[in-house]
Amino acid sequence: MIPVEQSRIRNFCIIAHIDHGKSTLADRFLEVTGTVEKRRMREQVLDQMDIERERGITVKLAPVRMTWQGYELNLIDTPGHVDFAYEVSRSLAAVEGAILLVDATQGIQAQTLANLDLAKAQGLTIVPVVNKVDLPNADADTVIDDLSVLLGIEPEAVIRASGKTGVGVPEILKRVIDTVPPPSGQRDKPFRALIFDSVYDGYQGVVVYIRAVDGQLEKNAAVKLIGTKATTTALDIGRFAPERVATGAISAGEIGYIVTGLKTVNDARVGDTISVTSEHEALPGYRPLLPMVYAGIYTASGDDAAELREGLERLRLNDAALQFEPEQSPALGFGFRCGFLGLLHLDIVRERLQREHKLEIIVTVPSVAYHVFTTGSSEPLVVRSPMELPDASRIQRIEEPMMHLNVVSPAEYIGAVMTATQERRGEFEKIEYLDPTRAVMSFTIPLASILVDYYDTLKSVTAGYASLNYLFAGYRTADVTRMDILVAGEPVEPLASMVYRDTAYRIGRTAVEKLKDILPRQMFEVKIQAALGGKIIASARIAPMRKDVIAGLYGGDVTRKRKLLEKQKKGKRRMKTMGKVDIPPTAYLSLLSR
Ligand code: GTP
Repeated sequence: MIPVEQSRIRNFCIIAHIDHGKSTLADRFLEVTGTVEKRRMREQVLDQMDIERERGITVKLAPVRMTWQGYELNLIDTPGHVDFAYEVSRSLAAVEGAILLVDATQGIQAQTLANLDLAKAQGLTIVPVVNKVDLPNADADTVIDDLSVLLGIEPEAVIRASGKTGVGVPEILKRVIDTVPPPSGQRDKPFRALIFDSVYDGYQGVVVYIRAVDGQLEKNAAVKLIGTKATTTALDIGRFAPERVATGAISAGEIGYIVTGLKTVNDARVGDTISVTSEHEALPGYRPLLPMVYAGIYTASGDDAAELREGLERLRLNDAALQFEPEQSPALGFGFRCGFLGLLHLDIVRERLQREHKLEIIVTVPSVAYHVFTTGSSEPLVVRSPMELPDASRIQRIEEPMMHLNVVSPAEYIGAVMTATQERRGEFEKIEYLDPTRAVMSFTIPLASILVDYYDTLKSVTAGYASLNYLFAGYRTADVTRMDILVAGEPVEPLASMVYRDTAYRIGRTAVEKLKDILPRQMFEVKIQAALGGKIIASARIAPMRKDVIAGLYGGDVTRKRKLLEKQKKGKRRMKTMGKVDIPPTAYLSLLSR
């Protein structure tokens, strides 16, 4: 028997493709339920980070407890981006229902499908909603038909809503109350809870966001983390309003937070189980976060490594997925080899280092983690930077990470998607139709191919209509090797990359041509070369030129001359002198897009 108070709880989340209106709808929920007063309502209360607000993306989950019509409604906001699929899966494990939100002007997209699969795997009750019905170009009927086929339900079961005007919003909450089951945990068992997020607070240490599964917990109880084996005390316990409000206790079925006093989020990871006894087994689904993409991060001046370390350490307090270790490059000085969940994660870290720590940084060409099998060892060597690749004579074979890729696209672009994906070594698997005008194509593709410029290409060949999602599919043998770039006869380590042997010539040619345009001219001729092993495969020359910034000025305007010289000086400061040639930080990034 579920106690009465527990039977009046509904835990749910919203799953949607990026930009389909999740945060806006959550804001309306807060308003309708009177959780946040209207005058305090700023747009998208749940997206807290500045960067998220500016980019309009949700990275961190922000839960909220609402009370409405005698029910306790706990909403967890989930990140929409593919880099954070594991976090999405843990939030889904913390709830019983999911609002499946689809933009009436965009239709079902790749992440709609991917998140729906995750929700179904958790056995969640789905509340289907077509959103943005207020827009003049909304085609709600088509989306409703597609959803009813996809979910095997009557079209009438799909709610028409608008996060902007508020149409349909109370109906969604009513449907959640009527169809999502209450949490089934048992209050008389020992306490255990699932951690679906953890944040570092400067004053309180690590605060874990939890779904209490069984039992009850009161403030000051001793607690254990089953996965990391950390032990600590529940310094405080509370709920989300959406800001944290202390209540001193939490019971089975509820969603709230525990202040742990732990020093790093690595001790209290997403997916772990927090319990009062070590007898408990971990709740299913926990796994350590695995970085998929690696890049070196250096300061532009090459001498602020201590500040850079401090910046990375501060970020790691709050980001268990960020990994880094010191790395030294003759060209760039002291820096760090960092591991990320994906390119968006990398981008967020880069931007936060620059913005919050005022560091001017260089990010080297991102790389996947290769497994290199060498003679005399059964375990593969994990190579996360081209510079770590052992001597060719010792290498038996190299394996690279592969992904399952799904692309949703209007039918008219199927051919273009096929071509663009197969050109990047994507192997076609199958095609399914959402309706006669829209298809889902599945491929297996190297992660390295997606990293480079696949997303931009896909968007451009489909006029922006295609969306994609991918999942790790294991390692597979690949014929790859390191390509070095030499400038003025010297190898420039940060420009080295891993390439497929059969396309190395083309890549090498493009790289040297690009660098030829990027690198500033010198007073002497500069040779740029690409090499495999010791063998030069492409080469270009930059003609000598003396750059005289004030040459164009006649007459005696001293201030203007000084201004130009100052500007030149500033520009030079941005460059990192490498042997005889200055290489601007932009060179590293521009090599990324081939
Ligand atoms: P991510 O956090 O990146 O996953 O996006 P999201 O799903 O939270 O979308 P968000 O709520 O940020 O909305 C995306 C854009 O659509 C914003 O510009 C909103 O103002 C707009 N929008 C959201 N809901 C509606 C709606 O019902 N009608 C209209 N016209 N616009 C909407």
